[in-house]
Amino acid sequence: MRLFVAIDLEFALRQALFRLAGGLPGARWIPFENYHLTLRFLGEMPGHRAEELDMALAALRGRSFTLQLGGVGVHEKAGRSVALWAGVERNPALEHLQAKIETAVQRIGFEPERRRFSPHVTLARLDGAPHDKLVQWLQAHALLRTEPMPVRHFTLFSSQLGKDQAVYTAEVDYELA
Ligand code: 2AM
Repeated sequence: MRLFVAIDLEFALRQALFRLAGGLPGARWIPFENYHLTLRFLGEMPGHRAEELDMALAALRGRSFTLQLGGVGVHEKAGRSVALWAGVERNPALEHLQAKIETAVQRIGFEPERRRFSPHVTLARLDGAPHDKLVQWLQAHALLRTEPMPVRHFTLFSSQLGKDQAVYTAEVDYELA
């Protein structure tokens, strides 16, 4: 199974994000149902590892908090713009939860995540979007700010890579106190 840990987004927040989808040639917009905020990508693993992971996550004691998305940006790879994302307003509780998850997965033997946690919701993959249009889109949505969303659980998702879009399935929710 290919697994990752993420925060599932409520309907109203998805709607707010979906309103941003459009007006940029060369963008492949993420479907409404696929929006999420990744806390930890784990990748392929056999079933027994997934069970260990589930136990480790279930044992984690986290606190609920609120989440507010704010701003948009672009991920670059080797000087090319590859993805558009919505950012997250400063959120120590979110960082704390992510750090707890990181510690929990390392304790059961997963390799440390080398990249710094930079919370975001991916909105589109880019395939040669014209620079001027990209700048226009970024400017048009720079002031994005969503209503606060209560986060009462985090979720283990499985991912099946499709030809076009991945199919994400929420496997287990872990309650936050
Ligand atoms: P992204 O949206 O910034 O691409 C499921 O694939 C989720 O895990 C995505 O949100 C993706 O982030 C994230 N992720 C992190 N590292 C990944 C990796 N090495 N391969 C695929 N997805 C990864």
